[in-house]
Amino acid sequence: MNLRDVELHAQGASQFTDDLLLPEGSLAVFPVVSTIAHGMIERIDTASALACSGVVAVFTAADIPGINQIGNVAADEVLLAETEVVYQGQPIALVVAETVDMARQAAASVVIDYRPLPAVFDARTADKMGLHIAPRRLFSFGDIEAAWGQCDLIVEGSAATGAQEHMYLETQNAIAFPLENNGLKVLSATQSPGSTQRIIARVLGLPMHAVEVDVLRLGGGFGGKEEQATAFAVMAALAAHRLQRIVKISLRRDEDCRMTGKRHPYDADFKIGLDRSGKILAYRADFFQNAGAVADLSPPILERSLFHACNSYFIPNMQVSAVSCRTHLPPNTAFRGFGGPQGMYVLECAIFKAAETMGVDAGRIQQINLMQEDRYFYYGMQARRCMATACWQEAESRFGLQDRRKEIDAFNAAHQLEKKGIAIMPVCFGISFTSTFLNQADALVHVYGDGSVSVSCGAVEMGQGVKQKIAKVVAAVFGLDEQRVKVESTNTTRIANMSPTAASTGADLNGQAARLAALQIQQRLIELAAAQLGVEASELTFEREGVYRQGKATELSWNKLVNLAYMSRTALSAEAHYATPELFFDRDKAQGQPFAYHVYGCAAVEITVDCLRGRYRIDSVKIVHDDGQPLDVMVDRGQVEGGVVQGLGWMTLEEVVFDETGRLLTDNLTAYKIPDMHFAPAIDVHFLESATNPPGLMHSKAVGEPPLMYGIAAYFALCKAIRAFNPGWQPDFHAPMTPEKMLLALHQKQHPDA
Ligand code: MTE
Ligand code: MOS
Repeated sequence: MNLRDVELHAQGASQFTDDLLLPEGSLAVFPVVSTIAHGMIERIDTASALACSGVVAVFTAADIPGINQIGNVAADEVLLAETEVVYQGQPIALVVAETVDMARQAAASVVIDYRPLPAVFDARTADKMGLHIAPRRLFSFGDIEAAWGQCDLIVEGSAATGAQEHMYLETQNAIAFPLENNGLKVLSATQSPGSTQRIIARVLGLPMHAVEVDVLRLGGGFGGKEEQATAFAVMAALAAHRLQRIVKISLRRDEDCRMTGKRHPYDADFKIGLDRSGKILAYRADFFQNAGAVADLSPPILERSLFHACNSYFIPNMQVSAVSCRTHLPPNTAFRGFGGPQGMYVLECAIFKAAETMGVDAGRIQQINLMQEDRYFYYGMQARRCMATACWQEAESRFGLQDRRKEIDAFNAAHQLEKKGIAIMPVCFGISFTSTFLNQADALVHVYGDGSVSVSCGAVEMGQGVKQKIAKVVAAVFGLDEQRVKVESTNTTRIANMSPTAASTGADLNGQAARLAALQIQQRLIELAAAQLGVEASELTFEREGVYRQGKATELSWNKLVNLAYMSRTALSAEAHYATPELFFDRDKAQGQPFAYHVYGCAAVEITVDCLRGRYRIDSVKIVHDDGQPLDVMVDRGQVEGGVVQGLGWMTLEEVVFDETGRLLTDNLTAYKIPDMHFAPAIDVHFLESATNPPGLMHSKAVGEPPLMYGIAAYFALCKAIRAFNPGWQPDFHAPMTPEKMLLALHQKQHPDA
């Protein structure tokens, strides 16, 4: 049996790194972390830790054989702090002991003297102080200065979005096994086995071929294990390498929350200009990204905020800029949407404010400004097969949105203490890594003598069903049942130089590579079958586990043919490389073709507010989504639903709170609320019919991230309900709208001069 991941999960039979039984004598490592946000280390005293029972070793930066540097995009992140600490939770030393509890206890007894320095936690303050990860970047289009003069209405304001905790079910972990010749095998819960391997090799001073990283699956990543799993894998590897013992690391939930970064909080100033009809003539936004203490992935995340600042709209004159600000928080990192949601939110705030000023529904402005076929995005790419209006119109008619608006107005007029709101969120998301070189993948396909198939590729399974999709793609090439294709663990010895599974490209890139590899074997087998049957190769196809000639079964079954191939010494393995064609981007000019294609969609979110208590309920989310020709409708439906709920959480319940010393207060699920079964609304997902996507894998479209942004509508639906109750209230556009903020907003008195 070759059960799919979903089936294994449902049976509780899927394995995670933490489930593995380790041999006796295996050790645990645990980091000693900074208890202050910023300061100089004056003294590290490990004597008391070494005296604790079960402790085998304590390592500091001085014990690192290679380079103490784990930065990927920028070389600005040490594995273990040497002189300066820059956030609470930053690793300084490692304690290795017989059990994780012993290591944890001993780590707490390490004495570190600090000389504290001033710390900054907010992006605008850091910007004023000149604390930047990267200088301000600018994307511009048209002539914005001239355009302001033509506007009938100009609205300005500011907006902000909060951090978001990934809350993957499986916390960060890794196990390192020492091998002969100084080598290591590391099982890591990472989205980036390739860079994990590279960085372990760097820190240990080993060639990359000495380090094998293997990933079976993750219990969720959501971007939080794209960069941030690396440090933990390196810790286990360093300890295993030094001690020549098996070493495991595994964090508790609260530790994971405190040590790892989150979605970047953003601040922004905006200015939008429209004509009388609601056409947007000019838009300007300046973003401040709170990067935390080191670069991590902040620069590319910042870039994606700029790419998506205009969301699904065409605006003829644009100027958007963004700066990455260095603060003394744990390094913020990738999170589903990768900066896109933060960019899109601000434009929605601008549209909402303009609509309020004009006395029209925001939906009207949204609709008439949607991107149109063949128009250019402000970064120089042409909109091809643009589905923005198709999705909008389908949502309007399918879900009867005009009527819903009227019904909601009637409800609000009839109810004093309960108010409803509805808001629409169109989404347009570019697919490809914006760092062009990452858009490549390799795959290795074996057909075994019994006809079963094994696929290795760079895709990491983290719940998004990528293995199921890739198995389908390869099975289709061979005319086999999906069950006969196994997609193996993601392993750096089988696949070299792999890109992270991120940017929603996992299935696209790795599926293309797997398909190309399978097609090579298919070609060899077809030629063999043609010779055997004495017919033309072009007449033959693989279907239903057999060779078909002009639609009819021949005597050759798949199994027979494979056996024949083996006996006649025909190669049954193939490797292939795929690189997304036609991508380029000139970073200085901010112009090019950064994406293979765009994903479009449109969602309506309806909410009800209990105006006495400030409680609210998300009643429904109705979505029309352009998924191309889905590889797996059920998987994609799951991706849309999960993404939306995560977006709703970001806009409503999820509030990351640090105290004034930079200590995380929301390090558990009592303090940090995420959507649960009771919160999750009814979600109606309709995939746009007869959609195609020539640049995609078998006409499919990537689906992992775009749906998160539908959740943004919840914020504006809530704003509308508040205004129905408290007409004088002005939104401050600081998301999330927690129930506490909601209660204050509902009962906030208007200033007499307002
Ligand atoms: N779905 C599940 N169940 N778990 C996850 O961790 N990560 C999301 C998305 N969907 C994630 C998920 C993120 S951030 C990305 S980039 C994509 O899946 C990555 O997978 P893909 O490229 O195969 O779509
Ligand atoms: Mo996803 S944020 O690109 O891992």
